Order: sequence, then C-alpha cells, then structure tokens
Amino acid sequence: MAVIEVALAGREYDVTIEAGAIDEMDKRLWDFLPASIPGRPKIPFVADTNTYKLYSGAIAMAMGTEGYEADWFVVEPGEGAKSWAVLERLTDWLLALGVTRSDHVFALGGGVVGDLTGFACAVMKRGCGFVQIPTTLLAQVDSSVGGKTAINTGAGKNLIGAFHQPAAVLIDPLVLNTLPDREMRAGFAEVLKYGLLGDAEFFDWLEGNAAKVLEREPAALSHAIATSIRAKARIVAADERETSGVRALLNLGHTFGHALEAETGFSDRLLHGEAVALGMVLAAKYSARRGEISAQDADRAAAVIAASGLPSEIASLGMQCDGERLVDHMRHDKKMESDHLPFLLLKGIGAAYMARNVELSDVAAFLDEELVRA
Ligand code: GLY
Repeated sequence: MAVIEVALAGREYDVTIEAGAIDEMDKRLWDFLPASIPGRPKIPFVADTNTYKLYSGAIAMAMGTEGYEADWFVVEPGEGAKSWAVLERLTDWLLALGVTRSDHVFALGGGVVGDLTGFACAVMKRGCGFVQIPTTLLAQVDSSVGGKTAINTGAGKNLIGAFHQPAAVLIDPLVLNTLPDREMRAGFAEVLKYGLLGDAEFFDWLEGNAAKVLEREPAALSHAIATSIRAKARIVAADERETSGVRALLNLGHTFGHALEAETGFSDRLLHGEAVALGMVLAAKYSARRGEISAQDADRAAAVIAASGLPSEIASLGMQCDGERLVDHMRHDKKMESDHLPFLLLKGIGAAYMARNVELSDVAAFLDEELVRA
C-alpha cells in the first residue's frame, strides 16, 4: 500500500493506492462514513451504469459489515452526465437524503463521475465533503487528485466548475483489469505526461516499461500510478488554483490536443487521453522546430507514444482541415488570454515550460507542414 499526501494547509488529504482496496473500503474510508445523515445510515454513492454493475455488490458487502447501506445515484456513462440537468437531479437527490456539510459523498467512476460529484459537493449547502474512488487510469493519475470539478455547457467543456478538494482518494489498481485496453492506453498518455513534463528518469523508466504497465503487471502499474500521483500532489500543493504557472504544466499536450478533440467533435473518434498523446508529440515537434529541444528528443517522445499504441501522427485521424482551422479551435481554449495563448513547450525531456511568445500564425504554419507530411 502507498499513501501519498496532497499537502494543502487546512485541506490536506491522502491518496491511498492499494490492490483490493474496494473490497475493504469501509476500513480504508472509516473516517468519512457519515456523521449525521438522519434515519438509516445510508451512504451516498455516485456511479455510472458500468461501475455500478461492477462494484456495487462488493461495496454493499463492505458497507454491510459496518451496518451501513449504500444508496446509489447512477448516471449513463459519457460526458452527457456532466450537464446542468444531471447536476440538478443529483443535488436534489442529495438534499432529499439530508446530506449535511459534514457528510461525504462517494464518487465511484472515471473523470465524468468524479467531476460531476465534486462539483455537486462544491455547491451542496456551500460545500460538503466527497471522496474519490477513481476507476479509470486517467482518473486515478489525474482527474481524481487536485480538486478540479466541473460540468460542460453548450459553450464548451468544463466551463462551469469549482476548485473543491476531495477529503480522500482511494485507488484500487485491480479495477483496471476490467478497463477496456483503449481507455487504459488513453490514461497512460497522462502517465507519460508526468515524465515528459518534469521527470526525465521516470520518462526513461516508462520507455522500458510501457508494455508492462499497459498489461497491468502489478508492480509496474503501481509504480506508474504512485509516481504520477506524487508528481501531481507536488504540483497541486505548489499551485492549487493554477495561478503561478506551476499547475499549468499539467496542460502539456492539451492545447494541441484540445484543438484535435474539437475538430473530431469531442467524440469516440479521439479520446481525451489520445488527444493529449498526439498533442504532446506536436508540442515536442514544435519545440524542436523552435530549436528548444533536439530532433532526437522529439523523436523519443513520439516513439514511446507510438509504441504504447497511442496516436502519434495527425494522419491517423483522417481530418480534412488546415492548420488555421485547428488554430481557430485554440482561440476558444479557456487558457486563451486577451491577446495570446500560453503554450506548454519543452526545453528537454522532463523539462516543460510555459512559452508566452508563441505566434498562432506560426503554429498554423507548423500544423500545415504536419498535415502535408501526413
Ligand atoms: N488535469 C489538469 C489539472 O488537474 O490541473
């Protein structure tokens, strides 16, 4: 078992990584079982239909041994659940249950369930507690840690949200055994991101061990998850609200990636992690084009991404567009400032930095070259 603290004064919490933790969650999360839900001690759980089907039985048993019962709010899988309509139903349900500010709601699922539940808890009576039990690799190494919560609107993804830290995060790597391989690879892109942005040694290790992690070899998988979370915990503790530029490093690959997701309609054609993977390749190549890293380092980034079965060439997307159209999507990025878009680029493997002097016309020309090369 590994326990990693997210050291935020007054809001610190532990991320516990333990194989089999879901079966024992009553013991691991004892401190967060309800103080004051009236009547029968029912614990509010939010899940999607998949995680409900897979784990509600084990959770009922774990809760039952302590005399508690789980009460479920189940959403359809997918981004559609991060909506005003579902938020309204969820908050009404929590109010009807009598949840108070000292209670905790349990989010069992991927990033969608975590983001929705976290945001509902941020506004529930001006803030109640919640616990993240992430069930995808992407949620385990990224979205469950750090307190970013949000829903989507017609104007874009994650535009309505709040910073609201969980009270605890419980990670059971065994749940990844039932995760589809494509989603496993998409989550692995975020693992690679931690190496590429700030830890050259971890990047070296990932080059040699990607296959083991993707095959869920227990020791390799736990090392990859724990190293990623240690990096995220450090970054969040240094810059909780993304104001100093430190947390923004976590957006490596996201500006290019967001444009690709927008062009492919935020659909299953390109999962978020896949877009981040291709975005990191483009950030590395663009850094090489600016003379900030060597072509060999850019090739290393592309090679480990390709070897992990992630997209590393724009051609693989079959898009009919030019660089200017992709840059136009970037202009709607929520990181866009009044007259420029900060870009996360590389000075080396393990050395990301924020460039504020990037001309979008130059990015469009670079993307045109990439699209032609395709
Ligand atoms: N997923 C990026 C962040 O948590 O800041």
